[in-house]
Amino acid sequence: MIIETLQNPRPAIFPDNPGFGRLYTNRMFTQHYTQDQGWHDARIGAFGPLPMHPVAQVLHIGLAIFEGTKAYRRADGNINLFRVDRNMARLNRSAVRLGMPEIDPATHIDYIESLVKLEHEWVPRLPNCTLYIRPVVISTEETLEVRIGKKFLHYIFLSPVGPYFANGFNPVAVHISHDYVRAVKGGTGEAKTTGNYAGTVAVAEQVRPHGYQQVLWLDAVERRYIEEVGAMNIMFVRDGKHIVTPALSGSILHGVTRESVLQLAPDLGYTVSEERLDVDEILADIEKGRITEAFGVGTAAVVSPVGKFGYKGKEYRINDEKSGPVATHLYKALTDIQYGHTPDPYGWMRTIKID
Ligand code: COI
Repeated sequence: MIIETLQNPRPAIFPDNPGFGRLYTNRMFTQHYTQDQGWHDARIGAFGPLPMHPVAQVLHIGLAIFEGTKAYRRADGNINLFRVDRNMARLNRSAVRLGMPEIDPATHIDYIESLVKLEHEWVPRLPNCTLYIRPVVISTEETLEVRIGKKFLHYIFLSPVGPYFANGFNPVAVHISHDYVRAVKGGTGEAKTTGNYAGTVAVAEQVRPHGYQQVLWLDAVERRYIEEVGAMNIMFVRDGKHIVTPALSGSILHGVTRESVLQLAPDLGYTVSEERLDVDEILADIEKGRITEAFGVGTAAVVSPVGKFGYKGKEYRINDEKSGPVATHLYKALTDIQYGHTPDPYGWMRTIKID
């Protein structure tokens, strides 16, 4: 890998709450793929605009996949990566679904580690802040044909971030969409591809003026079973002790935080299950007080309490729209492991030593 020398790198200075996705570091990683050469020309250079042919496939038919993972500042000054192997495995599953070339996971993790190490000053030392890592793969092939690409760009950029939601660890309001759907079995819902998100933003914008920050998607066939929320998977707490989340149905993103919470929660004294969740039953249980909490889980969202759902013109409030004890417990237990405040019994963390 080539590491370019930067002329005038900016100092890593950022506000106490850097927001989400507003700041970027000085460097990024890039490599290219052609059928003859495979992945080649790996380099870390200056962060900046990508030269792009107007006919590049990504700009027309959206051949693009991405990931999101984070680096955490430990108290000893070193840096933790959380389950980056799971994100890289998912990137490759997304690549297969979209007919893109896979990237060797170990090499990919090496690239991420090298980039984070070079940019280590940008890993925030502030509470609840992290360095968000965004690997992206796009088809740069110049063609109007609708077919798999033959030329790709893989790049990774870094962004120091605070909480995804502006209010931090406070409940968000979620609108349940009945008129629009995100994904269907056999489609691309399990892949982390741009189109899955592109189809949702206008719907989210329609409900934003009514106070909803996120949209919950139902299954596309019966519009009855709960799937996932815009930027996170969804979980519910029954009677304060049982955590239930939609079973992976073929159209739900296999969230790394989802998988981690399902593993962690039993060790914290909760029971967990993955089920087919009927929206009417869940809302009825919220009204009866049997569902005591709801929260989203994701890399960006971490564990984010849901204070209310809106569905077909009616509102369903949970836990008086306050953050509940289970979400709070899970948030703390998970982030304590991620930042290295408590030992990691699961082998999730990789520590990058900073000299
Ligand atoms: C993440 O949680 O990292 C995501 O990619 C979700 C969203 C910000 C697109």
